[in-house]
Amino acid sequence: MSPLHVTRTLAEDATDAALRADVLAGLTATPKWLPPKWFYDARGSELFEKITRLPEYYPTRAEREILAARSDEIAAASGARTLVELGSGSSEKTRYLIDALTSLQAYVPVDVSESALVQAGHALIEERPGLEVHALIADFTAPLALPETPGPRMVAFLGGTIGNLLPAERADFLSSVRSLLSPGDSLLLGTDLVKDERVLVLAYNDMLGVTAAFDKNVLAVVNRELGADFDLDAFDHVALWDAEREWIEMRLRSRVAQTVKVPALDLAVHFAAGEDLRTEVSAKFREQGVAAELAKADLELTHWWTDAKGRFALSLSVAR
Ligand code: SAH
Ligand code: TRP
Repeated sequence: MSPLHVTRTLAEDATDAALRADVLAGLTATPKWLPPKWFYDARGSELFEKITRLPEYYPTRAEREILAARSDEIAAASGARTLVELGSGSSEKTRYLIDALTSLQAYVPVDVSESALVQAGHALIEERPGLEVHALIADFTAPLALPETPGPRMVAFLGGTIGNLLPAERADFLSSVRSLLSPGDSLLLGTDLVKDERVLVLAYNDMLGVTAAFDKNVLAVVNRELGADFDLDAFDHVALWDAEREWIEMRLRSRVAQTVKVPALDLAVHFAAGEDLRTEVSAKFREQGVAAELAKADLELTHWWTDAKGRFALSLSVAR
């Protein structure tokens, strides 16, 4: 059995410095915000896996349905010998692709969550002896240095995670993905689609409160890493649909007037009662918009597949 190769491009102290900078910038801004990548410590990754199994959270099932039906077509169109997956998490749905890609030699999962990467990597190596797995602990919004592996290369970005980037960040992200591709290489992109507001809001505010716990986990990360004293029970999770920008916005709303201390930053942050801390957006897409954003990054959309209910789309685009 081949060993799991793990490369950390995020130095522990760099992570710490980045967290400090983000928390300082976000908590002193108006309105207050925190960036989403800090959700995913081991507990955050675990809570996210729970979200994917909630009855209200349809995207994972819809995307799995497409992958189950279309992986052979995707494999034939891409011919990939290397599959790079950004924000791979548990790599659970990716197995459909790995099974279908008959010439696949290397799988390169990239994630900020070391616990998710190592768990997924070990499981895959056991199931697929012979597949080279290079797990990369890295931030996909920063320039990536990929291991030397055979082409053609397909980059997969699943789960609708692209929707968690703001429009300007998306443009930068897509052009940096394009710079990883040679002519003939491809991008497989999962995008959640615009739909009925009630369905969307429930997907981000479930009955059991799992999404609320996930959202609040970012406060627990700041408590642990920076010694802050956020009281998780003093905030409510809120999910709003912004019809103009076509995104779900998640916020933590302070139940009371309170002051939170962040000793590592020598900071005291005041929250008014009802004041919101913005944690994450999840943009929803339409085919035209996706094709246009890809074209701007010099990627040509060649395939567009949706689940039977038209809730979620997978697109394949190629670098020319
Ligand atoms: N692809 C999986 C997981 C989606 S959740 C699925 O479809 O179910 C988003 C994943 O992206 C998480 O595993 C999280 O740890 C990772 N992630 C979030 N921001 C990231 C960043 N900036 N760089 C690298 N990984 C990131
Ligand atoms: N990218 C997915 C989405 O936006 C998963 C996700 C990220 C998510 N953050 C979340 C799901 C917060 C629920 C709550 O749907």
